[in-house]
Amino acid sequence: MRTVLIATLALLAACSSEPDPAPKPSGALQPVSITLPAETAALPDTPAGTVLSQHCTACHSPDFLTRQPVMTAEKWQATVTKMREAYHAPITPADEPAIVAALVTLQGAPPAR
Ligand code: HEC
Repeated sequence: MRTVLIATLALLAACSSEPDPAPKPSGALQPVSITLPAETAALPDTPAGTVLSQHCTACHSPDFLTRQPVMTAEKWQATVTKMREAYHAPITPADEPAIVAALVTLQGAPPAR
């Protein structure tokens, strides 16, 4: 028992007096460089396109915005509110009707339900 205690104290003393050098992890992450494909989509040069450029392209590419599945105004409303509340998109509730209208216009008439 005494030997174990002495060995433990010796170990603790060794740990505290000589800090370990930073471990060298194997398989450490390395910086990489990637080239993104060129953006090919653009929002239309219309009032609807301008509204979406102003409110959505800080976070999303035009590609992303123009390739969404066609949705009703009601569903877009929920998405736009989610962007504001969950992801802190810099829009106010007062901006939302114009944004929803722009999304519906961009997609054409949504399918009848
Ligand atoms: C502040 C950044 C930000 C802004 C501005 C923003 N979004 Fe998003 N959006 C996000 C994030 C983050 C996600 C989630 C991405 C993921 O899950 O991979 C997302 C997801 C989405 C999705 C995928 C479906 C979903 O519900 O998650 C759609 C569609 C979308 N955004 C549309 C819009 C539209 C339209 C606008 C303009 C009104 C907008 N976003 C503005 C950050 C933003």
